[in-house]
Amino acid sequence: MCLRFVLVKFLLLTVANAALTTTQLAKPKPDCLKKCGDLEILYPFGTEPGCFLNETFLITCNSTHYNPPRPFLRNSSSLVVTDITIDGRLQVQSYVSKNCYDEKKMIWNNPAYLRISQFAISDTKNKFTVIGCDSYGYIRGTIGEKSYSEGCISWCKRRDDVTDGSCSGSGCCQIDIPKGLKQIWVQAYSFKNHSNVLRFNPCSYAFVIEDSQFHFSTRNLSGYGITKKLKVPTAVDWAITGQGNCTEAESNPSLFACKENSLCYEPTANNSAGGYLCKCRDGFEGNPYLPDGCKDIDECEQGKFKCHNQAFCVNIQGNYTCECFKGYKGDGKIDGKGCTPNQLPVTKISLGVGLGF
Ligand SMILES: *[C@@H]1O[C@H](CO)[C@@H](O)[C@H](O)[C@H]1NC(C)=O
Ligand SMILES: *[C@@H]1O[C@H](CO)[C@@H](O)[C@H](O)[C@H]1NC(C)=O
Ligand SMILES: *[C@@H]1O[C@H](CO)[C@@H](O)[C@H](O)[C@H]1NC(C)=O
Ligand SMILES: *[C@@H]1O[C@H](CO)[C@@H](O)[C@H](O)[C@H]1NC(C)=O
Ligand SMILES: *[C@@H]1O[C@H](CO)[C@@H](O)[C@H](O)[C@H]1NC(C)=O
Ligand SMILES: *[C@@H]1O[C@H](CO)[C@@H](O)[C@H](O)[C@H]1NC(C)=O
Ligand SMILES: *[C@@H]1O[C@H](CO)[C@@H](O)[C@H](O)[C@H]1NC(C)=O
Ligand SMILES: *[C@@H]1O[C@H](CO)[C@@H](O)[C@H](O)[C@H]1NC(C)=O
Repeated sequence: MCLRFVLVKFLLLTVANAALTTTQLAKPKPDCLKKCGDLEILYPFGTEPGCFLNETFLITCNSTHYNPPRPFLRNSSSLVVTDITIDGRLQVQSYVSKNCYDEKKMIWNNPAYLRISQFAISDTKNKFTVIGCDSYGYIRGTIGEKSYSEGCISWCKRRDDVTDGSCSGSGCCQIDIPKGLKQIWVQAYSFKNHSNVLRFNPCSYAFVIEDSQFHFSTRNLSGYGITKKLKVPTAVDWAITGQGNCTEAESNPSLFACKENSLCYEPTANNSAGGYLCKCRDGFEGNPYLPDGCKDIDECEQGKFKCHNQAFCVNIQGNYTCECFKGYKGDGKIDGKGCTPNQLPVTKISLGVGLGF
């Protein structure tokens, strides 16, 4: 009797847990954390079961060890997330690989890893970058089953050979990275231990950085942060994966992530995570992954309408319409025929009377 009770309770608990963690919830809990430090957390991301779409979108908000609290991707304790956008982008802080020398020997060397499984390191927003005057760097990674490897060389003799803002091989070099990288390994090296340039450049640096966040400065040659681990912002593509393309995903409504008044799309040009994303239909705005997340835009209120002079704006679901003022009739839309005064019947009658005479 007692055993049966325990067993039933156990089963119930397991079922409840499974439901919480593996199925995609119809609606996230109302009390989900919306911010962790400066990061605004947008669904499908969330900090606990009941708040994210699934574990892939977990943000671990560590408030016990950090003040302000610090948001990490999934179960990582080093990969800090600094931005989430609803159109499929994450910004994370990834490590810089550094290789530094003094007169006698190597004084610092660290490789840098970035593992982003299920999402992808953005090929359109990032560049692999190497800084230094006696420097080269490698980037290695995997794309599906294939391995990838590339290098970049940065060279100069004097500080004056280097120009602020120019990253084309003299003191700084940059290359594109391929689509679909989910993990990378980066390492900075030197040819001659910086022996000829030590005075103004003791270190080589190698990293993958969001290009819009990088402005090369000659000051970057100086040995900035020799004895600490540096980080740079890196762009990551996210998407809903594992359900095929939009057509396939739509055929399974219980898993389909796009809610009311939204559309599914496959952002193949600038998102290499694979899978699909959702966006609000025209005339709606908000979070397309939340039930009732896409709200009607009140075009009239926001002044986003164009009506003829004799017409006023009327908001409708997903759009607006233009109605002629009282005493006018016709088509008040800007591309319509316009509104005319309501006097036509009077002229007709007088015309008829005139003809009769
Ligand atoms: C917060 O970070 C510290 C240091 O990395 C770690 O020991 C602790 O387990 C973390 N707490 C949570 C809730 O993740
Ligand atoms: C995080 O989770 C992944 C997948 O569940 C696991 O392979 C990895 O070891 C975990 N990492 C840590 C630091 O717990
Ligand atoms: C992807 O490209 C489209 C069209 O150019 C643009 O509207 C959208 O904002 C881009 N998405 C991201 C995340 O950059
Ligand atoms: C650079 O330094 C390492 C030890 O730090 C030494 O083994 C190597 O021979 C040096 N190379 C050159 C080119 O000076
Ligand atoms: C380059 O220099 C700028 C300005 O000093 C600094 O903010 C940035 O962190 C440096 N970047 C690297 C990779 O050293
Ligand atoms: C969770 O979501 C990711 C990304 O959308 C997907 O690859 C994975 O299959 C999902 N896992 C489960 C258990 O639904
Ligand atoms: C979606 O995937 C299915 C199966 O791979 C394929 O037959 C179909 O053409 C795809 N649809 C689109 C719009 O790409
Ligand atoms: C909204 O109405 C305007 C004017 O009638 C029309 O041109 C436009 O296509 C409509 N937009 C949508 C999303 O239906």
